[in-house]
Amino acid sequence: LTKIIEGIPYAVKIKEAIKKECLDLNIKPGLAVILLGDDPGSLSYVKNKIKACNELGFYSKNINLPSDIKEQDLINMIDLLSKDNSINAILVQLPLPKHIDENKIIEKIPVNKDVDCFTNYNLGALFSKKDANFYDIILPCTPAGVIYLLEQLKLDLNGKNIAVIGRSNIVGKPLSLMLSLKNATVTLCHSKTKNLELVLSDKDIVISAIGKANFIKKEMIKKEAVLIDVGTSLNSEGKLSGDFDFDNLINWASIITKVPKGIGPLTIAMLMKNTLYLAKKQNNK
Ligand code: GUN
Repeated sequence: LTKIIEGIPYAVKIKEAIKKECLDLNIKPGLAVILLGDDPGSLSYVKNKIKACNELGFYSKNINLPSDIKEQDLINMIDLLSKDNSINAILVQLPLPKHIDENKIIEKIPVNKDVDCFTNYNLGALFSKKDANFYDIILPCTPAGVIYLLEQLKLDLNGKNIAVIGRSNIVGKPLSLMLSLKNATVTLCHSKTKNLELVLSDKDIVISAIGKANFIKKEMIKKEAVLIDVGTSLNSEGKLSGDFDFDNLINWASIITKVPKGIGPLTIAMLMKNTLYLAKKQNNK
């Protein structure tokens, strides 16, 4: 029988600990969220991030800018927030419109306010880690959420064969690094991977972050494998779906995470944790 994992109970636990720490330290972390345009998916993510801030008593600033904004005007906004002492963390919701250089914008975020771990400096700090003690660095939110869940599920990662599907800078690339530091043998798969079904066939854990609704079926997966679904996309009927064909894999996998309300809430909880982490550092707490 497959264990179905919902993210919300785990997220609640993380957020309760954050709330308590804020009270103990008498600190009110502040997060600024910048969104360009009105993509429905991005709008919904941003709404959930602001909602989490409100739940926790964080200060939040929701900045919605037109999608045709000039690159320099966006940079000016980031500079303004960089100098604002009530703002400990700056989040620029990705993807950005095509006329804006994403890497250039990311590098304008001060590293001590880089809540997503997007900057070269913070990614470099992760890259140069020699063990899985991540306490002294900032981690990207979704990979941190996935690692947290695997720990909560008490899965021993030592020597496990794990496939990560998707090599993005936000999820696949950093997550594969973190899992290898936790002594897993990691295969990082992507759109040009040949014979994906053969690659996946012997994996103990498969983590997918490609956004192709119901793409992975049980014929591709070892029986009793652990499946972590980071994909969210609309299926042919317009329903929000994960990368794993949930109905097909139920009672084949040992564990599968839900979409929606699976990894998503953990990502938000980790964003809140990162915001507190940055606020503590900036206030020497
Ligand atoms: N777009 C999709 N996921 C994320 C995320 O975690 N952070 C930001 N800033 N943008 C995203």
